[in-house]
Amino acid sequence: MDIKDIDSLELQLENELRQIKNSDDLEKFRIKYLARKGELNDFFEKLKTLEVNDKRIFGPRLNELKKNIENVFNQVKNSFSNDSCDNFFDYTIPGVKQEIGSLHPTTLTARHILKVFSSYGFEIVEENEVESEYYNFDSLNVEKDHPARDMWDTFWLDKKYVLPIGSKKDEFKSKNLLLRTHTSPVQMRYMEKNNPPFRMVAPGKVFRYEATDARHEFQLHQLEGLIVGDDISLDNFKSIITDMIREIVGQKDLKVRLRPSYFPFVSPGLEVDVECFKCHGKSKDGKCSLCSNSGWIELMGAGMVHPNLYKSAKWDKYNYQGFAFGMGIERFAMLKYQIPDIRWFNSGDLRFSKQF
Ligand code: FA5
Repeated sequence: MDIKDIDSLELQLENELRQIKNSDDLEKFRIKYLARKGELNDFFEKLKTLEVNDKRIFGPRLNELKKNIENVFNQVKNSFSNDSCDNFFDYTIPGVKQEIGSLHPTTLTARHILKVFSSYGFEIVEENEVESEYYNFDSLNVEKDHPARDMWDTFWLDKKYVLPIGSKKDEFKSKNLLLRTHTSPVQMRYMEKNNPPFRMVAPGKVFRYEATDARHEFQLHQLEGLIVGDDISLDNFKSIITDMIREIVGQKDLKVRLRPSYFPFVSPGLEVDVECFKCHGKSKDGKCSLCSNSGWIELMGAGMVHPNLYKSAKWDKYNYQGFAFGMGIERFAMLKYQIPDIRWFNSGDLRFSKQF
């Protein structure tokens, strides 16, 4: 044995180690040189056969070599495990926060409104967003060619492609299909299946083929309400609806006004407004984008149910009395959360959604 042999062995092993690229090769290296039957041990075996003086020279040098090579081996091994996500986890790196979703303000408002109506004994009913011309217009006393049809700009559907899942064609009573422009068709569907007295509310999505602004969206949510009995009066409507609006919005002294209006399915018809929460009617520069300086925001259409609807429902007597209303859920949410522009609702902007 020569000391030069040990030097060149050390150089060779170090070089080999530095070129190793994966843990399989590293393991092969370990078996070949460092294991019990590996080549490094051959040198230790030879050491045993040397003279005492030679042992004193070669022994420490061999031990030093073994220690060096084991050090380099461990460095290379660690560099592989650092690269592997499976084997390495640094507990000191700050974590990535998981975003938790929240309910949309329209959902929150709809649930709140439904809770209030449920507590007054109203049944909650839902129907399809795809409707027929018959239920959306004809059955509600909105005759074909009547100018009142222009009150609701309509998305018409190609009937070849669209019928609500599980529905039968004759369920729609007319062939022309559309995206419902209001929740009022639910009134007629309910009246066909139920006899008075009853009280129901129907929430849902509606669609209007119209331009948007701070108060108008082309896709919105409404809540329809219908109460029919023997002696339901407009006075009942006024007190119930004023109490409910104040309770839902959470303002006991909120100003509510009823204004005469026209809808073909009610007589008399009216609209319910609340005071504008943005300018309170005092827009100094005359530029309130929310109420267009009127000082009022329209929340719903309403009125006493037109007797022609009782005929459409094929009831055996027509002298019932009832009132119906259809309110915009986004308009309520705007009041409740002081949202100055309805276009925020469908904006998909997380800065908006995260506030609820
Ligand atoms: C109707 O849709 C009637 N079906 C309401 C009705 C029901 C009257 C029962 C009588 C009896 P109107 O188009 O005005 O009416 O809409 C009712 C409410 O929906 C409005 O007062 C408003 O709050 C909301 N609304 C209507 N159009 C929009 C829109 N484009 N964007 C946001 N909200 C709207």
